[in-house]
Amino acid sequence: MYSKEEQQSLYSLSKEYLDEDSAIRQQSADQQLSELRQLIVYHEYRYYIKHDPVLSDYEYDQLFKQLEALEEEHPELVTPDSPTQRVSTDLTEEFPSVEHLVPMLSLANSYNEEDLFEFDQQIKRYANIPEDQDIEYAVEPKYDGGSIAVIYENDQLSRGATRGNGQMGEEMTNNARVIRSIPLKAAFSDYGVYKAELRGEVLIRKDTFEEINQQRAKDGLTLFANARNTATGGLRMKDPKEVAKRNMEAFIYTLGYAADEEGKSVLQRFDTHKESLDMLAKLGFKVPEEGDERKVCKNIKEVVNFCVNWEKRREDYPYEVDGMVVKVNDRELQERTGYTSHHPRWAIAYKFKAKQATSKLLKVEYQVGKIGSITPVAKIAPVQLAGVTVASVSLHNEDFIKGKDLRIGDTVLVERAGDVIPYIVKAMDDLRDGSEQPIEFPRYCPVNDTDEPVELVRPEGEAAWRCPTCVCGAQNLQQIVFHVSKNAMDIDGMGKSIIERFYELGWLRTIADVYRLDYGKIAELEGFGQKSADNLEASIEKAKQNPIHRLLHSLSIHHLGRKVSKIIAAEVKHVLELQEWTVEDFTNIKDVGPIVAENIRDFFQDEHNIKMLKEMQELGVNLEQTEDDIPKAASSDGPFVGKTILFTGSLQTMSRKEAQAKAEAAGAKNISAVSGNLDVLVVGEKAGSKLKKARELGTVGILTEEEFLQQLG
Ligand code: IVH
Repeated sequence: MYSKEEQQSLYSLSKEYLDEDSAIRQQSADQQLSELRQLIVYHEYRYYIKHDPVLSDYEYDQLFKQLEALEEEHPELVTPDSPTQRVSTDLTEEFPSVEHLVPMLSLANSYNEEDLFEFDQQIKRYANIPEDQDIEYAVEPKYDGGSIAVIYENDQLSRGATRGNGQMGEEMTNNARVIRSIPLKAAFSDYGVYKAELRGEVLIRKDTFEEINQQRAKDGLTLFANARNTATGGLRMKDPKEVAKRNMEAFIYTLGYAADEEGKSVLQRFDTHKESLDMLAKLGFKVPEEGDERKVCKNIKEVVNFCVNWEKRREDYPYEVDGMVVKVNDRELQERTGYTSHHPRWAIAYKFKAKQATSKLLKVEYQVGKIGSITPVAKIAPVQLAGVTVASVSLHNEDFIKGKDLRIGDTVLVERAGDVIPYIVKAMDDLRDGSEQPIEFPRYCPVNDTDEPVELVRPEGEAAWRCPTCVCGAQNLQQIVFHVSKNAMDIDGMGKSIIERFYELGWLRTIADVYRLDYGKIAELEGFGQKSADNLEASIEKAKQNPIHRLLHSLSIHHLGRKVSKIIAAEVKHVLELQEWTVEDFTNIKDVGPIVAENIRDFFQDEHNIKMLKEMQELGVNLEQTEDDIPKAASSDGPFVGKTILFTGSLQTMSRKEAQAKAEAAGAKNISAVSGNLDVLVVGEKAGSKLKKARELGTVGILTEEEFLQQLG
């Protein structure tokens, strides 16, 4: 439908309209209107037809708002085919069209607290309510899947349809029938309802989605991009047996229509939105759970809190949720507030910050790590993701680049979920115009600034290319940075930029030099002074006394992490004893594998390393086993001996860490998931899906925080 060139230029033009300072605003209104309409039509096509949007919802809304604002300024220029004149559509020609009993409207969007307060004020203006009077709102997750409307007649499921353009939907009754959370029979007649239309969202659980993709990978099929597309795509499949395989679920969020046998509406029997959802829950529908998932808030302030807190735990929720929906709870007040042609005035979506956005891959830079691994890093045009600006994204290694066929100049989809580091999901290859350049992974060390080129090697079985013999010092620098870091020697006040400065001054070459610094000279450096120099000295002196497991970990031995460092530290009285160890000596210890064993052996066979360690010892660094290196025997008595335990929800009297330590001291083993292996689940406030799962399993002992403390005595 769109050629590559067209798509490329529509994309660039969209970004120009999204740039507040763009000169594009100097164009005539006529021109801007026609461009904005063209852009919106394109993005609706990408979203609803291709299920592969190139703009975030936020960006799309910004374009839409610009169009609305311009049309408001120039009402004479509004055309009947403008996207503002209808709700967007996901109608295709593959399924029969059916009319909804009542239109399925869209929702207005809000993005922050102010928008919500403004929404509250606006309702008061429409409904003639004094400004300082509270309005009650029902708040629930905004599920990110595909919308459906299901009709029940005489207690039987009689029709299922997608939302379509809001008036007409696509009939998919057979597909609805294989979704297990949609009951085929429901006792509406108990409530005097003969015919009902319910609206909801069809979703796939995040973990089910992962399983589907794992299976597809095994079967050699292409992977689905995300759970949302898999669900919307699933709704439109021709074969209900295939639909069933996707294990889709439907959350119902509205009773849209309810009538008695004469066809007279009985909606007014439900005074509030909450009451209608409660009834649907009783009838066996899957509705958001009261308390944890949905809540009636007594005023807009409470709404804001609920929404903000929900956003924080969004990643822990088993389904994709892209925001919250805030609805006036009272049905009569809903009617008084009314509707626009596009959305109800009594409801609004509060959108979470976008996790995905597209941007341009501008270039690739290469970083060298502490053991010489070369990491490619994509520099992208800065984009906002979940509230932070992202301009650099790791590309991990050459295979990652090849696997995704990334090219310089590509438009890339970037995601940052929760605290997870951002990553590139894919290149939007249908936006390529041919000017993109392949990424040539370097064959020689790219950071080496000496005249002596060093050829990179890729050890068998490893993903990373490595610089085998560093001649420029870049690796040493990274090793020093790691040596002082929090998980290693934990030297406060010695960040990367300070290390770089000392390195340039020639004060640091190896990690031993850290313990040779001249604090008098440091005090004289610009930006330092006596106090900072003294502080640095104090932290270095303290680090000298560290247990040897920290020292072992700090040496940048490939694959030697914290855990194995601790295991080995427990076995030696003095670090230099390791010179005598063979690979077997290492692998004889439980949890030490052959690869790391060889690496440690190699490290302690290298005379430079031994010399460095001896220097460190002379400089006062501890090389002898300390009490902290000897593991405390897991408590063999206590109320929880041999039990596995997990804490969930927010604890009131202690932090989660403290609780875990207490449990361990009482003989328990902390684990992180609810499964058949879990013996005890301790629930704090607002416990959610874990508690639910534990109850479903029925094999897990459930304790409150108080009961847990009581059992500890
Ligand atoms: S209420 C009359 N509630 O969001 C009110 N919609 O633009 C109309 N959605 O695609 C919708 N979760 O399918 C409502 N808890 C929820 C929702 C929800 C997801 C979807 C809906 C539609 C879009 C609204």
